[in-house]
Amino acid sequence: MEPYASLAHALDIAGRAHPTLLIDANRLDANLQRLKARQLPQALRLVVKSLPSLPLLDTCMAALDTRRLMSFHAPFLAQLLRRYQDVDVLLGKPLPAAALRQLLTEFRDQPARLEQVQWLVDSEQRLAQYRALAEELGLALRIAVEINIGLRRGGLDQPQQLAALISAIESSGRLTFTGLMGYDAHTAKAPGGPGRALAAANRRYRAFLSACERAPESLTLNGAGSPTHVLHAQDSPLNDVSLGSVLLKPSDFDLPQLAEYQPACWIATPVLKRQPGVSVPFLSAWTRLSSRLPGRRRDSLFLYGGRWMAKPDWPRDMAPHALYGLSSNQQLMTVPADSDITVDDWAFFRPTQSEAVLLQFGDLQVARNGVLCERWPVLEN
Ligand SMILES: Cc1ncc(COP(=O)(O)O)c(C=O)c1O
Repeated sequence: MEPYASLAHALDIAGRAHPTLLIDANRLDANLQRLKARQLPQALRLVVKSLPSLPLLDTCMAALDTRRLMSFHAPFLAQLLRRYQDVDVLLGKPLPAAALRQLLTEFRDQPARLEQVQWLVDSEQRLAQYRALAEELGLALRIAVEINIGLRRGGLDQPQQLAALISAIESSGRLTFTGLMGYDAHTAKAPGGPGRALAAANRRYRAFLSACERAPESLTLNGAGSPTHVLHAQDSPLNDVSLGSVLLKPSDFDLPQLAEYQPACWIATPVLKRQPGVSVPFLSAWTRLSSRLPGRRRDSLFLYGGRWMAKPDWPRDMAPHALYGLSSNQQLMTVPADSDITVDDWAFFRPTQSEAVLLQFGDLQVARNGVLCERWPVLEN
């Protein structure tokens, strides 16, 4: 069932009157249950950048019964460490040494908080920086290694490099080697489908794992993401799968293998003006005429805000105008002339991704059973 009438009613009774980031809690719950029902053989790790709000993370962690998180941003990591005492946070990218220094300095007197983190190292140079900091500040660091299994976004290229890096980690009494992180997002976009590309990525992962010479169950073997988690059900080298976006399903995740998940976040914004036809300055005669052609008649809406990383979703067939340009202040959108939408109604967009877009609207407004029932603050950037 289409959610727009119910969400618009919830916004109206709550007195909202400006662009709002809505989370549909009923749909989020359904996505969480779908994921749970898959019974993945791996532990689940939630990607914080894609679910950037502590109450949102709490909801997802409780439903999925996991305390594993993946973080990519030093300010977010600091907020996680201030809040939680019982999580395991794996970094999804190597942080600059200066960011590590700031975090270590803030939590220096709470070493147990820092022990929740698996810092990510992609090279000998990065490891040397981290080791020097651990020794200077007298702190213990858990270290995971980024490996390139085909994405070509950095990390170790060759399994042979791993043994030397692990020895360098372990030669310092302050560092412990905890596992591997190899992301396989490229396989979801492989020409002809993910099958062969994923098999090749898994072979590379196993070659790195052999080079570790450790029992796999003693390590975090992390990989995958929303587009590939469904492909790791069998024959996977991973014991730890991270994902986030699919739980809200922004439009970039409208992929065949994710069809069972539902969109659960929208930008809703008031319609400020409706005008018959479309009229672009300097081209008014031509644009007016083309918006009046039989079968293609369109009217103009001006919205409160715009230019988001988002796709128009409601009213049906709402679209930007190719010649008018976009506006963050009052976006022109055109709609079929027979559309019912009117001034003070709500227009809906689907974010293309959650990570950047969720941070732009203040608190997330949570709708459940047709009512805005909670406000979830987003993480500070
Ligand atoms: C290392 C890593 N793991 C997992 C993910 C998956 O996150 P999501 O499920 O939100 O796409 C990402 C996304 O960028 C990533 O960089």
